[in-house]
Formats: sequence, structure tokens, C-alpha cells
Amino acid sequence: MNKKYEGIGFFNDFLLNLMKNYKKNSEPQIVNFRELVPQITNMDRHTHFIHAYPAKLLQQIPYFFLNNDIFSKEGDTILDTFCGTGTVLLEASISNRNAIGVDVNPLASLIAKTKTSKQSITSLENKLKDIQQLFKEYQSSKKKFYIPNITNINHWYSKQTIRKLSKIKHIVDNIEETEIKNFFQVIFSTCCRKYSYSDPRISVPVRINEEKFPEGHSLREAATKHLNFIKKNEIYEFFIEQSKKNISRLKNYQNSTMVNTNEVSIYNTDIKSINESVIPNDTLQMILTSPPYVSAQKYIRASSLSLQWLELHDDNLASLDKQSIGREHFSPSVYKQLHVTGFNNIDDILLKIYKKNKLRAYITYTYLIEMQQTLQKSFKLLKSNGYFVMVIGNNTIAGYEFLTYKYLIEIAESIGFKTELVLIDDIKSRGLMTKRNKTASVISREYIIVFKK
Ligand SMILES: C[S@@+](CC[C@H](N)C(=O)[O-])C[C@H]1O[C@@H](n2cnc3c(N)ncnc32)[C@H](O)[C@@H]1O
Repeated sequence: MNKKYEGIGFFNDFLLNLMKNYKKNSEPQIVNFRELVPQITNMDRHTHFIHAYPAKLLQQIPYFFLNNDIFSKEGDTILDTFCGTGTVLLEASISNRNAIGVDVNPLASLIAKTKTSKQSITSLENKLKDIQQLFKEYQSSKKKFYIPNITNINHWYSKQTIRKLSKIKHIVDNIEETEIKNFFQVIFSTCCRKYSYSDPRISVPVRINEEKFPEGHSLREAATKHLNFIKKNEIYEFFIEQSKKNISRLKNYQNSTMVNTNEVSIYNTDIKSINESVIPNDTLQMILTSPPYVSAQKYIRASSLSLQWLELHDDNLASLDKQSIGREHFSPSVYKQLHVTGFNNIDDILLKIYKKNKLRAYITYTYLIEMQQTLQKSFKLLKSNGYFVMVIGNNTIAGYEFLTYKYLIEIAESIGFKTELVLIDDIKSRGLMTKRNKTASVISREYIIVFKK
């Protein structure tokens, strides 16, 4: 498919063809989204790269599903029920749709807000000049600044890094205008992670250890390089450089969207608790989302250093984790007995998992029940004939292949959704994975399911 981009209905024929073929045999069809969307040659488009996040959605996927007028049209409203850092929201805004995003992780919501912000670029540039001036003044100052409560802070940072981060925090915290403050908080968050001793290859903080690898090993060299980078402690310089990059990215986004004609709203909450006064029922044309996988990513733990530095949560991080779908922490009293869903196929596999590992069976059961609640909510929010596009992967649980996509189709159809299309895309890279363990393995394929209400 190397036709030039021809506008909003570019993918119509291709999509109609895929759906026609799916109707014939109900077989998932293999596609490659990187090839399917040749319009995207540079992934650092608009604001997609303003901050890292685990398992970010491949931008070609929302691009494909938004650049047709079968599923939605310009001016329609698109919801991402698990918006993370806002990949879908950004693509929706660029394709001139209104977008609503929900995510339980306050860091993700902050990034998504900044990614789709329509704030004044000149104000950001002026604020950056003020910040540079303050950095100069603070360079020689011995003044001590407030350090928030960070678990094991000395394990994660050197004393000199803590000092500099606390100064930057002081400056950013004192920015009065919310949107400008959010913009610089995102950059500060990148610094909190980048200048910590956590291994950049792993999404959750794990202390980097060069001794783990033999002399001459490439991973040892990478670890040494990273530790030297931290030691240089050039955080101010990095902050300024990153700010300039993100301002230019935001400028690029604003130039590509009809700034005043589409709206983006983001809610930092549990999707299961969204009520009708926030998003009324029967109003959405399309939901496009990549939900969490069963025990594949620990979003709150992965964001923990930034969440603590930015003090983005009211109480402890565990309470945020408790609202996260796909979580893994439960007390033994709840998982001693087998819990069932009422779907025979699903309960058969839950029983097999239970016989090997009671905790894994309960994690999987809770995941499916909470996804069922999300699907029920989504069904209510959609207009009739509205579409729900979900990107999900399978994994291996307690040694069994767990066909998440099949089970979610079964659950969705029991709610009233009709399955219109199933696509498979092989994943070459899907952000940083957590440390592998024996009970939940790394996902290698993504399933894209299209439901219709
Ligand atoms: C696969 S990620 C989404 C990534 C996103 N598409 C992006 O490109 O950044 C799944 C997201 O679901 C969020 N999440 C988990 N449980 C949630 C819940 N109950 N309500 C809302 N969001 C939730 C996680 O915080 C995570 O950001």
C-alpha cells in the first residue's frame, strides 16, 4: 500500500475489504500496521515522544482507525477508556475528532493533558527563559529545598542529584498557571527517572548493577555509560534541552490540528467509576483503546519515582494500584478458593491455572471481571451503531496459553456487542517490558478487535 495519503477516507476501501473477508470465515486477519500506514515515517511526530511510558500504543493503529469515515467522522467524539499518555487522544485531535481520555494513573493523565494541550507556545518560551535565569541564580546557592517523601530515596539517587532535583521541583511547583506548570512537570518527571539509579531497560525501578555482567559485555558497557551520565549531574542542562524539544513538539502538534474546533478532556480516575454526569450514556461514536494485559505491566510501580517527586497522589501508591486493572497484589485469604466467571470456556482454563497457582488464577479472574465491567460501561456510553476498537495481547499464565482476546470477545458478545473484525499484528517493540517471570510471559502478538453496538 504505497498510495499517497489522500485525506480522511483514505483507509475506507481497505477497511471495508477486511470486514468483508472477516464476515466470510470469522478468521483473524494478519496485518502489519507499520506497512499499512506508510504516511508515518518518523515516529517522533507531534507530541508522541514528550515522555516515555510502558506499553504505549503503536501510533499507526489509531491513525488507521481514525482516518476513515466508516467508524467515525470529523467532529465526532472518541473515548479512550485506558488512555495512558494519550496516543489515541492526540491522533483523534489531529484527525479533527473530539477526544475524551480516562486513566487511573495520575502521571499518565498529566502527560496526556500536556500532549494535547492548546496552550500558548509564547508563554512556554517565556517561562523557560525565567527558569533558565533561576537555574543560574541557584547554581551557587547553598539554600536547601523541600524534598518530598520518596521511599528509599538514597537507594535511587546520589546526594547531589537529590539536591538538584529538589531545586527544580521548587521552581516548577511555584509556576502559577496550571497548564504551564503541567508542561514543565512532565519534563521534571523525565529527569526524576533519567537521573535515578534505576535500570533504563526495565519499566519498573530496579537498581542498575554493572557488576552483574562480565567485563566487555555490551550490557555492562551500557550500564557504565548510564552511571557516568548520572554522575555528570548535568540535570539543569538536560531539563532545558528537553524543554526546548517538547516546546517544538507541541508547536508541531498545534500546527497540525484545528486548535479551536476540537476538544480534548482527560479524567484521572478509575474507568469503572465514571458516571453519567461526566460522560452521558448513548453519546459516543467510537471507543478506541488498548487495555492493560493480565499482569503484564505494573503502571503505578513503573511511575513510582515520578509520582512521589511530583506528589501526584493523595495517599499511598498501593491505593492507586488497587484501582488498576491487571494488578497482581492480593492477600492469600481471597485467592484460597477458586472463583469462576460463569463462562464455561473461561472457567475451564481458570481451573487449570488454579491447580498450578492459586494466586495467578485469582489475578486472571479479577482481570476478566473488571474488564467485563469496563465493557458493560463502554456499551452504555456508545451510541447505537457506535464502534469499540480494542487492542489486546495474549500471554502465558502458569504455563498455559491464555487467549485473552477470545475470552474478551465472548464476554463482549454476551453484553450485546457484535464482532465485526479481528486483526493480528506482530509486535516488534512495545515499550519496556517488566522483568520476565515464569508465570506470566512476554506478549508477542497484538489482536485488534472491532465491535459494534
Ligand atoms: C496499555 S496502557 C495504555 C497506553 C496508552 N494507549 C498509551 O499509548 O500511552 C493501559 C493503561 O490503563 C490504565 N488503567 C489500568 N486500570 C485502569 C482503570 N481501572 N481505569 C482507568 N485506567 C486504568 C493504566 O494506568 C495504563 O495507563
